[in-house]
Amino acid sequence: MSKLKGKIAIVTGGGSGIGKAISLLFASEGATIHILDLNKTGAEEVLHEIVSLGGKAYISILNIADHQEVLTAVQAIGKVDILVNNAGIAHVGNIENCKEDDFSRVFDVNVKGAYNALYAVIPQMKVNKGGVILNLASIAAIVGISDRFAYSMSKGAIYAMTLSIARDYINDNIRCNSISPARVHTPFVDGFIAKNYPGKEEEIFDKLALSQPIGRMAKPNEIAKLALFLCSDDAAFITGNDYPIDGGFIKLNN
Ligand SMILES: NC(=O)c1ccc[n+]([C@@H]2O[C@H](COP(=O)([O-])OP(=O)(O)OC[C@H]3O[C@@H](n4cnc5c(N)ncnc54)[C@H](O)[C@@H]3O)[C@@H](O)[C@H]2O)c1
Repeated sequence: MSKLKGKIAIVTGGGSGIGKAISLLFASEGATIHILDLNKTGAEEVLHEIVSLGGKAYISILNIADHQEVLTAVQAIGKVDILVNNAGIAHVGNIENCKEDDFSRVFDVNVKGAYNALYAVIPQMKVNKGGVILNLASIAAIVGISDRFAYSMSKGAIYAMTLSIARDYINDNIRCNSISPARVHTPFVDGFIAKNYPGKEEEIFDKLALSQPIGRMAKPNEIAKLALFLCSDDAAFITGNDYPIDGGFIKLNN
């Protein structure tokens, strides 16, 4: 049980949901975890859980959309073997419901946030002669999902960013892949249901669960297991790919 022994991993948004599951699993496999998150309470809880299980973790409380904050935090960390670009926010709406500040907020966190972390980490990885990057995209990047205009565009950018980084740094021994989950039951899903469908929470939750042909949402730990595989040496021959993990959403929904 030490697929990441001695590795240093940054997990953005590691204080909740998928990022929390990735942080806990990677720590249990021997990685030292650096959580970059806006949410101090969530990040501290994950930190304490990792430490109480005998692992190593640190947190930096910052806004991933802030270029200088991310650069300063990553420079303080030093050597980085693994970057998981996971921090992200939702937006429900078509273009008519997408106000300029909604659009900017989603792109600042989901797209610029990933750019900020990559910009800070890649030079480090080059000096260290290698590294692994994993981006959280979404099935929304590849399938037309109703009322997800800005969100889908932001995840399409993540999909393309993955290919670009994988291509540019293949000779530096840096691998880069993405994961595209369908719905995963996290505070992210509970939050956008509560915000956008007040009074209909249960009905919408069931509808979203059943939109995966397998009949339920994924569990965060199921995403973390795929992340572990892709970030470990077991996946040494894998780069420039996206991995849907979707309960049949993309190919069996007919
Ligand atoms: N849950 C799903 O159904 C689902 C499906 C596909 C893709 N994803 C993607 O997976 C990723 C994680 O989603 P989740 O469901 O675990 O979400 P979550 O809301 O449970 O957790 C997101 C974390 O990111 C942090 N964060 C948000 N904005 C930030 C900012 N500006 N700076 C720093 N940290 C910030 C939050 O504080 C939180 O800890 C996101 O990129 C999301 O788009 C989620």
